[in-house]
Amino acid sequence: MRVAVIGLGHVGLVTSASLVALGHDVRGTDSDDERIALLHDGGMPFFEPGLAELVAEGTTGGRLEFTSDTASGVADAEVVFICVGTPSTGTGDANLVAVEQATRDFARNATGGTVVVEKSTVPAGTAERIRRTLRVVRPDLRDETFVACNPEFLREGRAVQDCLEPDRILVGADSPEAFEAMRRLYEPLLNKGCRLIETDIATAELAKHASNAFLALKISYSNALARLCERAGADVVSVAEVLGSDARIGRAFLDAGLGYGGYCFPKDIQAFERLAAKLGYQFPLLREVARINDEAVEAAADKVREGLWNLEGKRVALLGLAFKPDTDDIRFSPALALAERLLAGGARVVGYDPRAATNAKEALPQLEIAVDVYDAATDADCIVICTEWREFLGLDLHRLRDVMAHPFVVDGRNLLDPATMAEIGFAYHATGRPAAAPLP
Ligand SMILES: NC(=O)c1ccc[n+]([C@@H]2O[C@H](COP(=O)([O-])OP(=O)(O)OC[C@H]3O[C@@H](n4cnc5c(N)ncnc54)[C@H](O)[C@@H]3O)[C@@H](O)[C@H]2O)c1
Repeated sequence: MRVAVIGLGHVGLVTSASLVALGHDVRGTDSDDERIALLHDGGMPFFEPGLAELVAEGTTGGRLEFTSDTASGVADAEVVFICVGTPSTGTGDANLVAVEQATRDFARNATGGTVVVEKSTVPAGTAERIRRTLRVVRPDLRDETFVACNPEFLREGRAVQDCLEPDRILVGADSPEAFEAMRRLYEPLLNKGCRLIETDIATAELAKHASNAFLALKISYSNALARLCERAGADVVSVAEVLGSDARIGRAFLDAGLGYGGYCFPKDIQAFERLAAKLGYQFPLLREVARINDEAVEAAADKVREGLWNLEGKRVALLGLAFKPDTDDIRFSPALALAERLLAGGARVVGYDPRAATNAKEALPQLEIAVDVYDAATDADCIVICTEWREFLGLDLHRLRDVMAHPFVVDGRNLLDPATMAEIGFAYHATGRPAAAPLP
């Protein structure tokens, strides 16, 4: 099929390259000319495992094209995906300016017979606004343009795999034309047994918010348990194992730590709560999820303060700056939230991340950047493990201990083994676990 993708970010670029891999011809457009120029030069605007290769395959084969000209981008497309950002406004609502802009850009250049698909995460009711906008801009295409909602469930760091082997595909639509086009589009995945869930549009929109909010809720539940375990002398990792061994609960997203971050959960939970309020339903559970998430960062900061007494002049090394491993995305990263608190307390904060250091420095210029873990740890009074990068599992812990001013580790991801850390001589504070190696 001929497909256009508007917005070439973490979702749009992965969607574009994946749809080419499924056999379609894709034209991707973005309002950011620099991004288009970079893609034309063979560069990548962000790091995502396997994506550069997939994009290169598509462009080399001539079936994946990029343009900053939406008119030519959407011309002749049978399906147009809207993948632009939906950030938070000051009040927590989803900012849908880019969605409207993309809709208008498409509508002005539409030729008829197209299915417009919202893939961006949007509040229930947005498709209806898209439809109205299409009617206003192009009344002539009233019965020839169709709307669908196909929320994206990819995870950064595993986005390519998630797009090519999804758990399920969700399509909300209200016309046979839209359903038919989406079935054709995803036929190669459906033939491999991938489950397709078809609903009305509002249900698909709401299900995406509900899904993200529920995952965030699981994380916050475990973080609240961590606070409780710390007070009760219990071990939250074992508690999570017990919970997770119950098939009704499931083990995923029960890891206590510094909490969630990234471009999705924080803004989507707020937007979901705002949507509920607008619809006349109070949903304070969602606010509580966000509060517990903030508390997780504060709890780690407290451990650092507790261990160092005063922060002034102390050197604190943060291992991991990305909001999660295998990405260079630092948007709403708990590591940076922690860095801000420690800097405000007068500490010198140095960070190391295998991929996200440049982005982190740009977002927080006071942050010093180290070239590797040992560089970060040298003369540090405390290390905080903020992101569970795999390479942190293979550290030379003796060397780490020796380069530090004081061997004190706060493990914000429960990555290391408490007994080993105690044996090597670290003061070691995990998250929600009894202190195997308490402070001197
Ligand atoms: N990042 C994720 O893991 C993820 C997962 C699932 C869903 N989502 C949702 O998908 C949407 C996009 O997220 P993202 O992470 O890809 O965002 P992003 O910020 O990485 O990318 C958005 C892109 O849209 C472009 N853009 C903005 N306005 C435009 C316009 N009017 N016309 C053309 N291009 C425009 C920007 O230049 C940018 O390249 C959001 O609604 C997000 O919540 C994100």
